[in-house]
Amino acid sequence: MRAAPCGSHAGSVKDAPAEMSPTKTRPREAQCTVGVPREIKEQENRVALVPSGAYALVKDGHSVLVQAGAGEGSGLSDDEYRSAGATIIPDADTLFDRAEIIVKVKEPLAEEYRRIKPRHLVFTYFHFAASRELTEAMMRTGAACIAYETIVDREGRLPLLTPMSEVAGRMSVLAGAGALERQRGGRGVLVTGVPGVMPARVVVLGGGVVGYNAARVAAGLGALVQIFDINLDRLRYLDEVMPANVTTLHSNPFSIRKAVAHADLVIGAVLVPGARAPVLIPRSYLKEMQPGSVIVDVAVDQGGCVETCHPTTHAHPTYEVDGVIHYCVANMPGAVARTSTFALTNATLPFLQRIAAIGVRGVARAEPGLAKGLNIWRGKIYHEGVSSAFELPLSPLEEVMAQED
Ligand SMILES: NC(=O)c1ccc[n+]([C@@H]2O[C@H](COP(=O)([O-])OP(=O)(O)OC[C@H]3O[C@@H](n4cnc5c(N)ncnc54)[C@H](O)[C@@H]3O)[C@@H](O)[C@H]2O)c1
Repeated sequence: MRAAPCGSHAGSVKDAPAEMSPTKTRPREAQCTVGVPREIKEQENRVALVPSGAYALVKDGHSVLVQAGAGEGSGLSDDEYRSAGATIIPDADTLFDRAEIIVKVKEPLAEEYRRIKPRHLVFTYFHFAASRELTEAMMRTGAACIAYETIVDREGRLPLLTPMSEVAGRMSVLAGAGALERQRGGRGVLVTGVPGVMPARVVVLGGGVVGYNAARVAAGLGALVQIFDINLDRLRYLDEVMPANVTTLHSNPFSIRKAVAHADLVIGAVLVPGARAPVLIPRSYLKEMQPGSVIVDVAVDQGGCVETCHPTTHAHPTYEVDGVIHYCVANMPGAVARTSTFALTNATLPFLQRIAAIGVRGVARAEPGLAKGLNIWRGKIYHEGVSSAFELPLSPLEEVMAQED
């Protein structure tokens, strides 16, 4: 028997309290069918739900459909999903046909648009502001689009972006250490040093999630680390928690120029929310850097904080400018798909459980942080960033709460 409709049908939680934590959702009559398609974007090996997540949803009373092979890129077999209570569906068309909530990793691609119907609730990374085509296509589907990247927690952080920044931050030092090897064009420095020989000097620009994780790994390897930020409170915090081989410094052009001239490895990790990354290393600094030193610009997805940075791929991650090796892979977590899948789904699952329990209107009336995830529904835009990116009308969330099923 097909599960009763959920998602856009929030009627059964009409009088749900405004503040509900994922653990406090009350049972509803209409349970959901959650569908997990195989990601089709090139080089995307993550999957939006792991078997333990499927088990949790089934325990909540929902049905879980997983497209055959969806977990393959992350080393998760169909049998593991089956044993967690999920049903394996051979093809994407059938999966979209039968599911009400679609949970993905990346934004839908053109060939997926036609599968998305008004009754669907799609929960994934959309990054709408980066694509008018995607925004208009999703408006045309009529589906509810809840974006990972715009959900905000009680502290004002972005809890579904944090895990990927943790992965990229930790990875940046390992990627940089590899690029420092002589045969890869680097200056032949072992980050750890050895008895009697200096370790690498590592400069981290930005002390947020990426920068914190990068500095921790570099320090753990024994490097001499300098970490820059403009936020004094953040520097105070880093100063408290970092080991003795990490120095915190206030970010300004004079100090950065001096530090990068002596660095073996520079990690770019700044972010100004909603804006292009500020350029902290203009091309003129490169000539003062040591030949074969390495820059890993993690902020490349926001334009990069190094003037000479341009996006690269895992297949060809580095290039050289003025004797300095640049590593600027825009989707670093993709290379460690298994770790990234678990890190991502640890963060997304509680939200998915909650959304499945309360539906779209429940999301709109939930605490404001979760409601910020609702970007588009029934052809209208409910997120300010998306509306202002394309000068399209912004509709008030109150309208969602008042909508009839
Ligand atoms: N390439 C990838 O695969 C990948 C993966 C994850 C995240 N990222 C990107 O990494 C960047 C950092 O992300 P995050 O999660 O650490 O952000 P965050 O908001 O946690 O941290 C950014 C930090 O930069 C600091 N900052 C801003 N302007 C500065 C300046 N002029 N000088 C020094 N510090 C400055 C802020 O005070 C903040 O502490 C973002 O652009 C993010 O999109 C890239």
